[in-house]
Amino acid sequence: MQIFRTIQEAKKYLRLVQSEGLRVGLVPTMGALHDGHLSLVGLAKTRSEVVVSSIFVNPTQFAPNEDFTRYPRDLEGDSKKLASAGCDAIFAPETAEIYPDRFQTYTEVLDTSRGLCGDRRPGHFRGVTTVVLKLFNIIRPDVAVFGEKDFQQLAVLRAMALDLALDVEVIGAPLIRDPDGLAMSSRNAFLSPADRAQALFLSRALFAARDAYVTGQKDRLVDVAGAVLREGGVEPEYLELREYTTLSPLVVADRPAVILVAARVGSTRLIDNVILSRP
Ligand code: PAJ
Repeated sequence: MQIFRTIQEAKKYLRLVQSEGLRVGLVPTMGALHDGHLSLVGLAKTRSEVVVSSIFVNPTQFAPNEDFTRYPRDLEGDSKKLASAGCDAIFAPETAEIYPDRFQTYTEVLDTSRGLCGDRRPGHFRGVTTVVLKLFNIIRPDVAVFGEKDFQQLAVLRAMALDLALDVEVIGAPLIRDPDGLAMSSRNAFLSPADRAQALFLSRALFAARDAYVTGQKDRLVDVAGAVLREGGVEPEYLELREYTTLSPLVVADRPAVILVAARVGSTRLIDNVILSRP
């Protein structure tokens, strides 16, 4: 497996691969990889011949008060995991490679970036779309895989690809959980044992809502989930029912819908969601 640290090296390799007519799949990440990330590589392998994963802790998607500096970094461990998952190449640039002096161009998706995480993390999705568009331009993937774990991010990136007529198919991959239900996340490393026990109330709350949905109680899903969060002493940043594609707010889950939650547990901000029905 090859590791590229510069845009020039990565482009040289990819243009060669592409001149041979091979389909390229991209899996963008910020590293500190877990099985959720590796499942994306697995999905990319079914849809392309050469899989590239990027590892870049993107400063522009962190607000000044957020955890950019303490975000876990482990390029060596990540490289091993990616190699055994069958990834062909890693693009792991330094910050200055992506954001050189006088960098001044940003991409922004408007409506879908509003509400939910967009309201709590000002500038976050602008940072995500900017770096992902730059990665798309460097790698020129045929397909790019993103996890449903970050449901709003996936919707924002789908909107960007559609609006800007990008030649890349954005694919969503299922959310991977630990056996106890906790959504896998690089940030779970920050949870103490007590935090972790409390964090389980996020998925429990969403599963309770899903059970209520299945039994036809489509108008009280937020109440059901909210009660479980309260039981665990979790104060949500948001707990909302949204339409699947547009992410517009819903009161009744009478169309394709997802229920999403964000909450701080200890000092760690966690997000989770459950898709109730797909289009
Ligand atoms: P990161 O948080 O490292 O996640 C990289 C990809 O892995 C994202 O598409 C995310 O949705 C997916 N992922 C994370 N945990 C997952 C889980 N438990 N199950 C399934 N997929 C999971 O998301 C980012 O990085 C960044 O915003 C990025 C897109 C790389 C832009 O900087």
